[in-house]
Amino acid sequence: MARNKIALIGSGQIGGTLAHLAGLKELGDIVLFDIAEGMPQGKALDLAESSPVDGFDSGLSGTNTYEGIAGSDVVIVTAGVPRKPGMSRDDLLEINLKVMEQVGAGIKKYAPDAFVICITNPLDAMVWALQKFSGLPANKVVGMAGVLDSSRFRYFLAEEFKVSVEDVTAFVLGGHGDTMVPLTRYSTVAGVPLTDLVKMGWLTAERLEEIVQRTRDGGAEIVGLLKTGSAFYAPAASAIAMAESYLKDKKRVLPCAAYLDGQYGQKDMYLGVPTVIGENGIERIIEIDLNSDEKAMFDKSVASVNGLVDACKKIQPALA
Ligand code: APR
Repeated sequence: MARNKIALIGSGQIGGTLAHLAGLKELGDIVLFDIAEGMPQGKALDLAESSPVDGFDSGLSGTNTYEGIAGSDVVIVTAGVPRKPGMSRDDLLEINLKVMEQVGAGIKKYAPDAFVICITNPLDAMVWALQKFSGLPANKVVGMAGVLDSSRFRYFLAEEFKVSVEDVTAFVLGGHGDTMVPLTRYSTVAGVPLTDLVKMGWLTAERLEEIVQRTRDGGAEIVGLLKTGSAFYAPAASAIAMAESYLKDKKRVLPCAAYLDGQYGQKDMYLGVPTVIGENGIERIIEIDLNSDEKAMFDKSVASVNGLVDACKKIQPALA
């Protein structure tokens, strides 16, 4: 059977890590694309030269033209600029919107059957624009945010409780980052909800709120430490989990920025919700009832994402 083909649009920090992980997991042949000449070719060759040591068989190549992504099964988009200290994700909007227009046209022409995962920030607005620019069906274009936000939350909780990260589950909704909505009553240690763990004295409600806030600020914490860019290992790992669920039809339940067409009372927008990812892309959106506090946080998140989408429409009237 022919190998799957995975195209990585943007071969910077996240793109390079995506290629490495996809290779190590033998998800398919990998094409790195970037506008920087030589860089995707150099990373592809360096990674290919690691494959005998690690024992993986994946074709690895680099390209500066969209022809190179032709026929891809999965496309993961990180093209654009990352944050510097003091910048919010929203500061990236104008420049990255132009990048999404080019990338969308390339995908439309050369990989119209792909499952597309967008990582470029500000995520919820960029994935919305990418779906419009590419014209691909909404179930095949998705944004990576929730897996990362919930992974950060899980890690912080596992550290707090001194338990394995494997036994902590987290449920997050809403936009990426500042307006993320953590659902503590659905986040658990081995099935025991955090709200019960507070009652059991494992941590105080105040401490839980601190951990939630650290999760919301998780991206900024990394930017502040790195100073020259933003997080890349955890974002790449998160997108690979989504790609793997699609390619292997695992039907994993993963929080993703998905196109809402009436779910959660929203239309024509992308927002983080629990989804099922399988061979048909986003196969299902899981809609839960929100209590009044959660609804208030969710509405705030919707308003913030809608603000960014409106800004996109002003910059590029074709999107309106
Ligand atoms: N087409 C293709 N690639 C582009 C384009 C474009 N129009 N514009 C920029 N790039 C490339 C850059 O040359 C660079 O190699 O995108 C790559 C981005 O890589 P990094 O600067 O290392 O950024 P990275 O850390 O990978 O983050 C990428 O993901 O998490 C988000 O906020 C982050 O939006 C940022 C994106």
